[in-house]
Amino acid sequence: MYSLKELQELIHNEISSLSTGEEPKGLYEPIHYVLSLGGKRIRPALCLLAYQLFSKKEFGKEVIYPAIGLEVFHNFTLLHDDVMDAANMRRGMPTVHKKWDGNTAILSGDAMMIKAYQYMAECPEKYMPEVMKAFNDLALGVCEGQQYDMDFESRSNVSVDEYLEMIRLKTSVLIAGSLKIGAIIGGASQKDKNFLYKFGENIGIAFQLQDDFLDVYGDPAVFGKNIGGDIVNNKKTFLLLQALQKAQGQAKEELNKWLESKDADTEKKIAAVRNIYDELGIPGLSQDLMNKYFNRSIEALEQIDADENQKADLKQFAVNLIDRVN
Ligand code: IPE
Ligand code: IPE
Ligand code: MG
Ligand code: MG
Ligand code: MG
Repeated sequence: MYSLKELQELIHNEISSLSTGEEPKGLYEPIHYVLSLGGKRIRPALCLLAYQLFSKKEFGKEVIYPAIGLEVFHNFTLLHDDVMDAANMRRGMPTVHKKWDGNTAILSGDAMMIKAYQYMAECPEKYMPEVMKAFNDLALGVCEGQQYDMDFESRSNVSVDEYLEMIRLKTSVLIAGSLKIGAIIGGASQKDKNFLYKFGENIGIAFQLQDDFLDVYGDPAVFGKNIGGDIVNNKKTFLLLQALQKAQGQAKEELNKWLESKDADTEKKIAAVRNIYDELGIPGLSQDLMNKYFNRSIEALEQIDADENQKADLKQFAVNLIDRVN
């Protein structure tokens, strides 16, 4: 059994030696660039952790490659997401569409999605239909979530339930799907696959709540992304939805003024909206909701029939995901 640290090393080594094409450079350099910037690599780690929960076999390419495919897929979504969110910084460096241009982010992203499928297709033949279905489901889910995310920018009546469904789709289905794919290849029972998926769905929601929190309250040097992008884009995060619900009188007017202003000074807007969040105690409410989803994830984990020590590792992994600062 591998420790988390060993798994992360294994993933790191695989990604460092990962071969995509060389020419045309305009297509492949951005791919090497984004993959070399690191990131937490949580999706392949979850895939491998899930696998070793059910299989005693040594890791081989039939599970390592699909795990890498999940990371390549995730990085592809980041290239397109940064275009959609007009984000300039990722992992402490310029985003692909800033360093190159929008067309580069689109096409290198497309190539990454295809690479992801190639890696996924290295799974054992007997699990291929099930793995491909899980992968297709998660990939389409991300697209659906991303579309809701964009639609909500210009909608003023988004409910918390709609927000939760949006983040389940754009973030949780990939996390839950990564666990599921590891479990499928590990030969898990249907019941355990379902509980592991539930664990992933709930921890994914907590994870995105933390991402939205860090987008306002994080340290850009550590978080690696510009702070306040969600505020600038009028993203309907839990923070904003709660503020819209709780603000009264002058604060409500001010918040609406910032949401409607088209060419506001971005730094002023970020500071003003953050200030309203602080005054309304929104960070605490976000923390409470995160804890609720964390607890739900642990309840699902407890239902899984597997080694208690390994489940404890997954629990610790979940704790680290929501306590994170980057
Ligand atoms: C960023 O994912 C996109 C979200 C779902 C919030 P990560 O926070 O896992 O990004 P990296 O891969 O570690 O950079
Ligand atoms: C993450 O949403 C969802 C996907 C990348 C699919 P965000 O837009 O919040 O992610 P970051 O903050 O840019 O990493
Ligand atoms: Mg984004
Ligand atoms: Mg986005
Ligand atoms: Mg974000």
